[in-house]
Parts: sequence; C-alpha cells; structure tokens
Amino acid sequence: MSNIKFYKEQNLPLEMHKVRIVQKLNLLPIEERLSAIKEAGNNTFLLRNKDVYLDMLTDSGTNAMSDLQLGAMMIADDSYAGSETFYRLEKAAQKFFGKKYFLPAHQGRACEHLLAKTLVKQGDVDPMNYHFTTTKTHIQLCGGSVEEIYSDEAIKLTSDCPFKGNVDLVKLENLINSVGVEHIPFVRIEMGTNLIGGQPVSLENVKAVSEICKKYNIMLMIDASLITDNLYFNKVREQLCENMSVAEIARAISDCADIIYFSARKLGSAKGGGIVLNSKEIYDQMKNLIPIYEGFLTYGGMSTREMEAVAIGLEEATDIDMISHGPEFIAEFGRILQSHGVPIVTPTGGLGLHLNAREIVGHIPGEQFQAASLCSAIYIVSGARGMERGTLSEEKNADGSEHIASCELVRLALPRRVFTLSQVRYIADRICWLYDNRHLIGGLRFTEEPKVMRFFIGRLEAVNDWQEKLVAKFKEDFGESL
Ligand code: F0G
Repeated sequence: MSNIKFYKEQNLPLEMHKVRIVQKLNLLPIEERLSAIKEAGNNTFLLRNKDVYLDMLTDSGTNAMSDLQLGAMMIADDSYAGSETFYRLEKAAQKFFGKKYFLPAHQGRACEHLLAKTLVKQGDVDPMNYHFTTTKTHIQLCGGSVEEIYSDEAIKLTSDCPFKGNVDLVKLENLINSVGVEHIPFVRIEMGTNLIGGQPVSLENVKAVSEICKKYNIMLMIDASLITDNLYFNKVREQLCENMSVAEIARAISDCADIIYFSARKLGSAKGGGIVLNSKEIYDQMKNLIPIYEGFLTYGGMSTREMEAVAIGLEEATDIDMISHGPEFIAEFGRILQSHGVPIVTPTGGLGLHLNAREIVGHIPGEQFQAASLCSAIYIVSGARGMERGTLSEEKNADGSEHIASCELVRLALPRRVFTLSQVRYIADRICWLYDNRHLIGGLRFTEEPKVMRFFIGRLEAVNDWQEKLVAKFKEDFGESL
C-alpha cells in the first residue's frame, strides 16, 4: 500500500481491496443530532447506530470482513462438541502464534477473566506497559493490582518516538525487586497499546522484557488484540524487522511470551477470543473453567460461523495489504488535522486517530470531562461518534473526587477497511471547523453515574446551553448543509 507512487497527485493510501457489499448510512440534520446525543445522555455508547453517520466508536467487531471469511462461514460445522470448525480455528491459532494449546472464549475480556481467575491472587501485582479497562478490572476483582511501567515517552502526546508502547526495562526490574517475585504472577505487554493512542511495542523491547522475565522466572503474557497494527509498525519502523515477513515478526513476538490472548473482535476481524500457551499445567487449570463460564471446550461461547471467520482472519492478519490499511488511513487523517493545527497524538498509531482533548478544550475544567465534552460536540457537528478515553473512563478516587486522567483523549476509531478516504476527509474537515470554534464547547456533568466502568452506560448533561450555541454557529456557517 505505501509503495505506490502517484504521477500528478500527492501519494495517498491506496486500497488493495474492492467493496462488494455496502450498508446505507444516514446523516441526520444537526437539530436531530443534538436531540439524539441528549437522549443518549451525552454518552456516545448510548447512541443508536441509525443516528450515526460514521461509527468511529471502536474497531471491536466492526472491521470489514473478506469474501474468504464470508465464504468460510457457510461451511461452519455446527455441533456442541467436537466441531470440525474448532479444529480449523485451533490450527490457525497454532500457526499464527506457534503455541501448542488453544482455548476458545467469547471475547477478549472473557480471556482476561479466565486468566485472572487462574493466575492472580490477593495482593498480587501485575506490571504492564499500559492497562486496558477490562484487564485492570478483572485483575482487581481477583484481589490484584496493576503497575504501569511505560517509558516516559508513552504519555508525551506529541512525540516522534516510534515505539511509545515500550516497557521501561529499568522500571520493570526495580518493580520486581521492590515487590518481590512471589507477588508477580506475570508481566503483561499489550501490543498496540490501546489507551495511549494505539502506540506500538518494538520486537526488540518484547525480547528484552522476555529476557528479564526469564531471569526472574516470571511469566510473560501478551495481549495480542491489537497486534495487526503493531506488526505493521514493526515492519515499517523497526530495522530488526526490515527483512522479516509479517508472519515471521508475529512468530518472533509470540516466541517471547508464555501466554497470549486476543480479542477476535479485533485480531481476526470477526467475533470471539482465544488464549494460546505451551504450559500443559496452566492449560489444564483454565480448561476446567471454560465449560463453567464460556461454553463447551470446542466453542467457548463463539458461534461456529464466527470461528470459521476468525480462522481466516488470522491468516489474513499476516497480509501487509490488510494490516497497513488502518495505520495508513489514520496517518492521512492525522496529516489533514495537523496541517490545520489541531492537536493530536503523535506519531499517529493504530486503531484510530486520537485527539488531544486537554489541548483543544483546556478551558473546560477537568472535573467536567474535557474528552467527553469534545466527543459530544464532534457528534453534534458531524454525526460521527468517537469514544472518550480520559477522566470519564477512570474510576474515581477513594474520597469520591475525580481522578483526572494522565491523557485526555477522544478516539476516532477506523475499523479496518470500512471507511473511504472521502469519509475520512469529511470528518477531518468537520473537526477543523470545530477546532476553530472550540471556545463554544462547554463541560458535562453526570445525571446517572454507575459505580463501576461508568463510561459504558453513565448519562450526562451539558452544564449550560453551549450545545445550542454550537448548533447556531454551525447553521450560520453551513446554512442548510447537513
Ligand atoms: N485488550 C485490548 C487491548 C482491547 O483493546 C480490548 C477491547 C480487550 C482487551 C477486550 O476485548 O472487547 O473482545 O472483550 N477493546 C475494545 C475497544 C472494547 O473498543 O477498544 P473484548
């Protein structure tokens, strides 16, 4: 994709696929968008998809599927136990990761549940480059805690560091020495670090962490949900990987880990999840939990059709044309915004484009949820829904005060091979307009606040009439245009 030169045009990311099935989209008039977001409690998770023009909430379960995936779904072997589909998926996972055992689960967080239940005990500490929301919750529910050992570059939103997801090796060793090996069941590396902007981890860093883990006899666990974007960045940014195929890089990463799990809603471009490992002892322990929490051992809560699609999806995850689409479209999105001065996370990563809400709407107090407010405003002016990744996604402090997040981001996900470049240019254009009118954006406050993971279903309202003023300015500038 990146290797195609244009004659008259500036080089563009060129799609190496064609679209053969389409879904009609709606773009509502702005007044209806305002009513929809109010009805959704200013929470983009609670919008109805029929009211959304570009669904940039997440890439989870929303990547485009290939003809080969759809074809494979037709031959799914539906049986409760011993389905041939399971063995095909098992084989695909073994091939991709090079591990002996495969356990199916209904999605990524189900893998986290099984792993935490099996490995984490009261008082344990789990070091990781960065947490993911569901990962941290499962570890905490088992009495453990998370320690983040990211490099200093990780939370510098503007940077030219190619691997901001890397583990800080000195911090890791210091932590092991202060906490004690007996309280650390595993070190976790999240590939394509979700919450800091889809930032990758280098193969060199994975190897170095693995060496440290071996030295102290601690297991290395890898969350491979976002590994496809990571593999692309390994290939194009890391000298060590220059002459390796994508499959070889995936295998080299996997070889460093004792346990790998993934959300097949991301890796595999379908729905489901899985765990791979070589340890028979741990496999046996987790195996017994699958029929209790997931389903029988040969489907783990997944439909056989989805399992067929995941098997093909894993194979396609080693195709550079497939894995480059997301990161290259995101880079193009970023180029347009940066040329207008809009603050974004750099370098652009995988998964989606990340806006630096703290910079854009710094006039809103942190307790009024800067990123959530920006997210609400983006929907109003464009019909696109992003996801808040900031203070609202954090748990409150023990004293009930807000825990202001270290990064206040809005994520605009680009599910792989779903949107066209003109749609990317449209949303970039609306965000440039919003940036120029950012002084009109105000804060939000809770009207309904769940105690755990409040970002999913909590409801909020605007602190004053800023949303009506934003609509008025939009109409002044765009007239009757949607
Ligand atoms: N790990 C990572 C790195 C993830 O990004 C996710 C999900 C999970 C685990 C959990 O997997 O959703 O299949 O249960 N991320 C989604 C997102 C929810 O929108 O980024 P799951």
